This record gives sequence, C-alpha cells and structure tokens, in this order.
Amino acid sequence: MKAVEIKPGVYWIGAIDWAIRDFHGYVTPNGTTYNNYLVMDDQITLFDTVKHDFSKTTIDNIKNLTDPAKIKNIVINHIENDHVTSLGDIMALAPNATIYISGKGKKGLDRFFDTSKWDMKIVKTGDTLNIGKRNLLFIETPMLHWPDSMMTYIREDKLLISQDAFGQHFASSSRFDDEFLNCFSVSELEDAVTDYYANILMPFGTLIKSKIEEVQKLRLEIDMIAPDHGIIWRKDPGKIIKMYLDMATGKADLKVAIIYDTMWQSTEQMTVPIMQGIRDEGVDVKVVKLRADPKSLAVKEFWKSRGCLFGSPTLNNSMFPTMAELLSYLKGLRPRNRIVGAFGSYGWGGGAVRDMYEEFKKIGLEVAEPGLQVLYKPSAEDENACYEFGREFARKVKGYHTSFE
Ligand code: FEO
Repeated sequence: MKAVEIKPGVYWIGAIDWAIRDFHGYVTPNGTTYNNYLVMDDQITLFDTVKHDFSKTTIDNIKNLTDPAKIKNIVINHIENDHVTSLGDIMALAPNATIYISGKGKKGLDRFFDTSKWDMKIVKTGDTLNIGKRNLLFIETPMLHWPDSMMTYIREDKLLISQDAFGQHFASSSRFDDEFLNCFSVSELEDAVTDYYANILMPFGTLIKSKIEEVQKLRLEIDMIAPDHGIIWRKDPGKIIKMYLDMATGKADLKVAIIYDTMWQSTEQMTVPIMQGIRDEGVDVKVVKLRADPKSLAVKEFWKSRGCLFGSPTLNNSMFPTMAELLSYLKGLRPRNRIVGAFGSYGWGGGAVRDMYEEFKKIGLEVAEPGLQVLYKPSAEDENACYEFGREFARKVKGYHTSFE
C-alpha cells in the first residue's frame, strides 16, 4: 500500500502483512501491519522500520516522498525484529542519518547490526529534538513490551507514536479507526485489541497503568495515537487509552470460559452439562477446544472472562499435553484477578485435575476447589454432578466478580 498522509507532512509508510498467521508463536487470524512513519520537516525524520520481508515496500514508499539519502534522523522506538530488521537496508541508503534510541535499544541494535559506522544518540524520557517546525519528546516505556521500548510525542501535531502499545494485529486497507469501522464492527476492533493485549502485554499491567498515568501527568495534548501495528487512533484516541487502563487493572466480564481438550470425548461430554449449569446461574459461557482453536484464542477468552474452567483427560498420570502447554504459556503471561477450576475424565489413577490445580497455584490464580473427575465415561449421575459443578462454579464467579465492582 502506498504512503498515507496521517497529518500534514506526516506519512504512514508501512506494510500490510495479509498472510501472516503465526506471529512468533501465536495465531494472527487477521494478519497484521508493520507501521512506520516519515515526517517531512526541515530535518526529514523516520520513525521505526518494518519486518525485513517488507523492506522494499517501505523503501519504495520513502522514495515516492523523498530521496532516502535526505533522511536526517531515524528514531527507533523499539528493536524487536518486526520493526527493526529493515534498518540495515535503510542505513545503506541514508548513511548519514543519526539514530535516536534508548540505551537498552542501542545495546540490542549493536547485536543485530554492525553499527560501528552509524551515528547513534541515546535518549531518555524528557529529552527533546527539534527537527524544524516540530519538536519531538522522547518517553521511555521499558517493558512495554521490551526493555528498549519507548514512544515519541510530536508536540506540534499532538501525535503520539506509540510503537507496539495500543496496536492490534489486523491487516486491513483502513489506516484509521474511523475508516476501519466503515468495514468492521466496534466489537471486531475491541476483540483485536484484547487479543493483542492478552497475548503480549498481559504480564505488564501494573507498568502499563503507571506509565499511562505518568504520561497523563505530562498533560500532553494527544489527538492521534499511531502504533506500530494495526489502525491509527484518529477519531477516538481516548478509547484505546481507556481500554488499556481497564485491561491493566484486570477488568473482566462476568462470564466463564471453558477451555478443554479431550481424548475419547468423555471430557468433551462433561462440558455440556457444566455449561448448562453455568448458564442456569445466569452467566454467559464461551467454550474453546484446544487442538480446534489456537492457544492464543484460548488466552484471549480466558482474559475476557472473570472465571475459567479448564478440562483435561488424564494421560500418563497427568494432564493432556495441549493443556500443559497452555498452562505453561499462561504462567508466563502472569494473569491476575481470575478465578479458575478444573475437571476431566480419567481411566486409571487420575492426575490431570490434581496437576492442573498445582499449576493454577503456581500461576497465582484464585482457585475454586474441589475439581471434578469422572471415571471413563460420564453416566447420567455424573452428568448431574457436572451440571451442579457448573452451577457452583458460576456462583463462585459471581461472588468473586462482585469484589471488583
Ligand atoms: Fe511489534 Fe514488540 O514488536
């Protein structure tokens, strides 16, 4: 896609990755975009690059606006591969550019490239750079979501270039929130934001909240937020800030996710009366089957719901491998403010439910005990027990949810 002017003299020059479905291990059903920006001021300034596969795309976009050799400054807000791997190609065309980067960013860049001939300046929060008619303000945002991360605010444009923060993995021909909503629904947009947050930013909620509050204290006027993925927040930048503050404080819907896997459909059979029991307590349910759905989707549904039930049959005295993988992934995401329980079928000695609870406690989740096990195949009596298990869990979720209101 050709360059798009997002503010007078400020251009999106990125790339749309329609086909990517595996983004460093999690599923991106809607693809993604790699956004970078070029400011045509007295000193032409580039913000970030793109994944190397799209190096030619962004360079062509630059060439349609200017001779790349005229780029005076390159601000690297984030050094992860999807944003920095075209830098070598760009520096070959703009060898006299000065790179502005955080201290941790420089350490990483020195590992990715031979930077010995590059002019690099380390910046920190509060540092400014005049590029002609505009003044840039750098704001370090370490661990959002890498140690090097930072944002840049362009005062005269009231524009925050926010790197990964406030992004979404969604390939579309729309560059702005209002354009996106001409083609897609608000819930699709919110879902994409939640998916991104749950799978990337969940561990950093406390940092996110304090960083947003720190930026709010700077009293910067922001009328546009331009992240490095997805749409640019032009119509309603306040919406994404509010969504982030809500997610950072662990806000969830009064809802239950049931995430399960099954060997011979016994555990699957248990989900039906459990779901009915939850529903009969007036709580909505979302059911996710591992191996049918990606674990990133399971994590998103887990994160949206105040309560989650995990179902796994016993295999070799422990939980099914897909469940073990999911809980390992979840542990790294350090979720909080969710209540969980476990159920599953077994044939010999059991072990899946026991081991799932052990994992819940290691993760630090609120647990609803006891879990529920069924031998071999649920009988009519077992199905009644499943139904009651669902009702009881829903009551616990409602009580737990009340403590957050
Ligand atoms: Fe989009 Fe942290 O990279």
